[in-house]
Amino acid sequence: MSRKILVPWAMPEIGKEVLKKAKVETIFIHGPKGELPSLNELIEAVKNADVLIPRGTQPVPKKVIMANPNLRGIANYGVGYDNIDVRAATESGIPVTNTPGVLSETTADLAWALLMATARNIAQAHGYTLSGQWGGPGGKAFMGQDIGPGGSNKPKVLGIIGLGRIGKAVMRRSRGFKMKVIAYDPPIKEIIQKMKGVEYRELEELLRESDFITLHTPLTKQTHHLIGKNELDLMKPTAILINTCRGPVVDEKALVLALKRGKIAGAGLDVFENEPRLYPGLTKLENVVLLPHIGSATQDTRGQMAVVAAKNAIMMVRGKKPKNIVNPEVFKSAQYHRRLNS
Ligand code: 8YV
Repeated sequence: MSRKILVPWAMPEIGKEVLKKAKVETIFIHGPKGELPSLNELIEAVKNADVLIPRGTQPVPKKVIMANPNLRGIANYGVGYDNIDVRAATESGIPVTNTPGVLSETTADLAWALLMATARNIAQAHGYTLSGQWGGPGGKAFMGQDIGPGGSNKPKVLGIIGLGRIGKAVMRRSRGFKMKVIAYDPPIKEIIQKMKGVEYRELEELLRESDFITLHTPLTKQTHHLIGKNELDLMKPTAILINTCRGPVVDEKALVLALKRGKIAGAGLDVFENEPRLYPGLTKLENVVLLPHIGSATQDTRGQMAVVAAKNAIMMVRGKKPKNIVNPEVFKSAQYHRRLNS
């Protein structure tokens, strides 16, 4: 019986090619417009597969992981893997991989696009121009925040929370704006302290000092609601918050209140606490720019993410160690070896 890979979403062609070339039988399931299967459909489909390639934000709870005693790998299509119950996978002896690196530059571009759009009211001004309300000089001015030093030549402060691959790519892009960069990332504090072009700050200091705060952490127990009411209260009333990492890193209820009350000037969000649902009131605000989780959405990058995920899946279906393993401790487990021999 040949081993199978399950792809329960519409994978880019370049990823399909990799699977085809490797001559691994692959099962694709999704709706005509790329709709994802329901949880029950996923559970049924996984029973018949050896390796699963979930779409980055597609939930893979314990129920899915436990559905097949012979599942030998999960190759996530995404750098974040909070969609997967990695603990259950590890306990069951299943390696989990992700797609780091290939999407860093693209996501950093989007973070900047969002920062600039929020600071200069681009989305709102675009809507106004399209609406035909613009009556020429004297019309609504859409006064924004400077990103560069502005007319008074005062450099702005960019606060980066999470200085991993994406955070660093965001930092590189700030040079042209002559910004002062500060960063908070406790696990790599000492490394940052030795880096050029960035100063380390504890969270409270960063919140008080920044004109722009951009989030680039994974979603973990430690980062859940990292930005809540207390943190928003510390920010400048002119500050702008950008989130392109994971929605639950920000307490959305507290954010909506802070934006309504003018505690901060604006927010650019590509991710939300309960995607695709938006917190009540968020869409009524004028000082937000909201995007449907498109940080890595370019043809090139999404294609390369598919290639990485496909290659990892092929290694695992063949019982070999893949790259980008997020739970390397799994290789020591008896469960893992049992699954390989099944
Ligand atoms: C999604 C992402 O995975 O890589 C991540 O962590 O959030 C995105 O790239 C992408 O939308 C695919 O679902």
